[in-house]
Amino acid sequence: KSLKNYNTFGIDCTARYFVSVKTVAELKQILSTKPSSELFILGGGSNMLLTSQLDALVLHVNLKGIEILQETTDEVVVKAMAGENWHEFVQFCIEKDFGGLENMSLIPGNVGTAPIQNIGAYGVELKDTFVSCEAISIKTLEERIFTKDECQFGYRNSIFKNEEKGNYIITSVTFGLTKVEHIKNISYGDIQKILADKNIDEPSIKNISEAVIAIRQSKLPDPKVLGNSGSFFKNPIVDIETFQEFQKKFPEAPFYKISPTQFKIPAGWLIENAGFKGKRFGDAGVHKNQALVLVNYGNATGTEIWELAMKIQKQVKETTGISIEPEVNVF
Ligand code: EPU
Repeated sequence: KSLKNYNTFGIDCTARYFVSVKTVAELKQILSTKPSSELFILGGGSNMLLTSQLDALVLHVNLKGIEILQETTDEVVVKAMAGENWHEFVQFCIEKDFGGLENMSLIPGNVGTAPIQNIGAYGVELKDTFVSCEAISIKTLEERIFTKDECQFGYRNSIFKNEEKGNYIITSVTFGLTKVEHIKNISYGDIQKILADKNIDEPSIKNISEAVIAIRQSKLPDPKVLGNSGSFFKNPIVDIETFQEFQKKFPEAPFYKISPTQFKIPAGWLIENAGFKGKRFGDAGVHKNQALVLVNYGNATGTEIWELAMKIQKQVKETTGISIEPEVNVF
């Protein structure tokens, strides 16, 4: 089966076997018949680059459902199944006026894969509203609840990318959201600009969501139109010595101080500075509005995208001395 419609990069790679599961019982049944080495777990396919044919059973996690677990006048606890589309879930929350996810509008992918890399945008991360998630051990079929602490969330990071990498399938995620008194984050300059242009002083969560959608649509390509996986690289975090060295050479470069000794530099700037923004090599390219996003113009193979990524990584290192690492999972 071709996986072209199951990965947002639109890579035409085939899977030997494919099954889509709609219930936890079905999921367990499949897991009990196949060793983990013969399985490939697929969620929304929005954070992966497939570079070869998959000689495995691709297990598409398609569990659906949204449930309100608890509700008071100020707060609500909502559980979403792993196969729910992330943005549709965010929209559901905004329509009900449940606050906390609006800054993460329009992020591609599914609810179940969002904790793995602690998705985030415009000053808000998944971990800010995350309560817990339910998961199934791929090897033992044991069901387990991971609390927020147990997930060990960091910048684009969690236990599911480290100690427990490849060990669990997340089946649902539970969020704690606000009602009435929303905690809003409009620290991001682009959001403030859009709200000011519309003369909105007291934005609702819907206003914020709409601003985020407008920013993302202006910078980031729609995967349905142009295959991509969002940010291909992580923004590198460097120590103070590396940073000072870098700043001497590039005083104009943007940066965020994240601690007295750690600095984050936008990888998009580094890639643009290395001359790659808007460049195209066959069907693989670097997006014209956001250099952090690699795109598939139609028939690029995963290997072509990967080769371009390596070329960029090498050039950035040579010109600035800084190493950038992929954010997407490469298979
Ligand atoms: N920049 C450039 N050239 C570019 C792109 C960016 O010079 O081509 C510089 C600009 O100075 C800009 C700065 O980089 O001000 C930051 O860019 P932007 O605000 O677009 O955000 P980002 O750091 O590139 C991160 C996340 C995005 C998230 C945005 C907004 C990572 C790896 N990426 O991007 O997440 O939407 O912040 O919060 O942390 C994703 O993970 O797929 C993703 C899109």
